[in-house]
Amino acid sequence: MFDGTPDELSKLIEPGRVHRRVYTDQDIFELEMERIYGRAWMFAGHVSQIPEPGDYVTTDIGRQPIIFIRHKDGTAQVLLNRCAHRGPKVCNEPCGNAKALTCLYHGWTYDTDGTLLDVSMPEGSAAHFDKKDFGLAKAPRIGEYRGFVFVSLAETGIGFDEFIGPMKANIDDLVDRAPDGEISLDAGIHRYYFRGNWKLQVENVLDSYHVPFSHASTVNKKGEQFSRREGDKEGAKVIEETKDKKEKTADAWKGRRSYVVGLGHGWTSNTELKEKERSSAAYDAYKDALAAKVGKERMEEILTPEFHNSLLYPNCSIMGLNMHVRVIRPVSADITEVTVYPVKLKGAPDEMNSANIRLLNVTHSATSFVQTDDLESFRRTQVGLQSLQSDWIDFSRGMGEEIPDEHYNATSESAMHEMAIRAQYQAWLQYMCEAA
Ligand code: FES
Ligand SMILES: [Fe+2]
Repeated sequence: MFDGTPDELSKLIEPGRVHRRVYTDQDIFELEMERIYGRAWMFAGHVSQIPEPGDYVTTDIGRQPIIFIRHKDGTAQVLLNRCAHRGPKVCNEPCGNAKALTCLYHGWTYDTDGTLLDVSMPEGSAAHFDKKDFGLAKAPRIGEYRGFVFVSLAETGIGFDEFIGPMKANIDDLVDRAPDGEISLDAGIHRYYFRGNWKLQVENVLDSYHVPFSHASTVNKKGEQFSRREGDKEGAKVIEETKDKKEKTADAWKGRRSYVVGLGHGWTSNTELKEKERSSAAYDAYKDALAAKVGKERMEEILTPEFHNSLLYPNCSIMGLNMHVRVIRPVSADITEVTVYPVKLKGAPDEMNSANIRLLNVTHSATSFVQTDDLESFRRTQVGLQSLQSDWIDFSRGMGEEIPDEHYNATSESAMHEMAIRAQYQAWLQYMCEAA
């Protein structure tokens, strides 16, 4: 029996390596749902998904079903999706609009802020029954930054400002690209499940080491990936040949850096592309729209990207290249759901937003060129970890080469190394031990 004492937990994480049970053991998974997903700040939704009063989206945070809903007073609320009578989910649809929420079982009706409005056949209620005590519970803590809504399902713990503070610039980097200063995540979703542990996807978003190998099929003869942004003729140089043309190397790729800022958060630096040559009818019109709002100088600044993938540990990542927000939802130790939201820039021409959605179909749908490579790696990892060859998974690349970065107030290392994964496991251990 695994009790999850700090002593037991710390034996699973060593400098530069992690025990395979952390990916395969259902007892550890249940503890993660309680101690990480039940406590940490988790992305719950974006305000653009619920523009009108009564609009809602349902999801699960760890084991707990929630309703992300716009109340009639205009506030975004996160309610726990469990009838206060005998427990069923009140809202069963993935999304919709409702004036009030009615439980299917005995018909109790709740307001959009969870207040219990009506009890069917109230004359049968016990003498001590008080409607005020039977509303839908609210998530204990909720925080919002530029439309991104996060919740913590615990009353206490790290504050929202501490959680979001070091990652604000990464959100700004994306949202500032919108001429109206707001993004929307209302263009539909890609959703897929893979038969692997959730941490495989979390690690992968900050793993640049795999790109030239896992995604070798996405580059042309010159070693350049296909274009993933509107206005680019081609994508990043991922693989190149040595001068004598005898060997292929990933030298061009090695300039990327990764950064960590505590709590498992981090990012990889921007992919080098030909920014000056970026042009198309849609992109040029977008640039004009942005310049009209913020001025040419600021427009140039905004369109010089700094970040590639950013991770708000543990369940949310933002990609700056072909813009999307990705939300990771563990289902069991070996099943994970991933939802990908294309980003629309408010105030940008429709053609620009459509192009981003179209490119995302190519890279991050369930049948895309890029994402499927990663999913195959996750699946093979989960199968490979059944082998008893060794109890350990290594992520020691670059250990000792981490350096402080004053500009970002972060710690930095080559993105070909594995510092970001080590940092995720420090956060994992912190969350898991704090709640022990
Ligand atoms: S269980 Fe919901 S109304 Fe009875
Ligand atoms: Fe990948």
